[in-house]
Amino acid sequence: MSAPPAPPSASRVAVYPGSFDPITRGHADIVERSLRFADRVIVAVAVNAAKQPLFSVEERLALIRRAVSHPSVEVRSFDGLLVDFARRAGATMIVRGLRAVSDFEYEFQMALMNRNLEPALETVFLVPALDLTYLSSSLVREVARHGGDVSQLVHSAVLQALRDKFAK
Ligand code: PNS
Repeated sequence: MSAPPAPPSASRVAVYPGSFDPITRGHADIVERSLRFADRVIVAVAVNAAKQPLFSVEERLALIRRAVSHPSVEVRSFDGLLVDFARRAGATMIVRGLRAVSDFEYEFQMALMNRNLEPALETVFLVPALDLTYLSSSLVREVARHGGDVSQLVHSAVLQALRDKFAK
């Protein structure tokens, strides 16, 4: 075994990275589930992941803070490699949500690449609540852009932000 197990007293820190453009109820569900096995969860917004994001990094950070307000959840942005950010943050786990088989190939590649870069970091895949499995930020953006109702899919602060964005 290359990475020794963390002592029982150590605080378990998980990084949940993504674009979060914007955060959906599916993302919030994954954060909640992560808190069942992590003492602290860092929701990490990748600065350069989305080429033309709808929301700026600052807007996304603010919306995540509204949508997942919890004393054990921290919301930060990062630039560069995820593994470097995770190492600096003292994380031992990367959390990713797996919604469907179509997610698998990309997630599998990413997990193996991250392991290659940093063997001590473990990727943990979580399955969201069944009624949220079809949800994605891109679908939410598209439906909201055309005036569709996404009120059940995002936090009220995100709903307002989408309305403001598309009213312009
Ligand atoms: O929500 P997304 O867009 O699917 O998240 C992708 C993300 C941000 C997790 C991924 O692009 C990432 O980790 N970017 C940071 C740069 C990096 O470390 N790339 C190598 C990953 S193998």
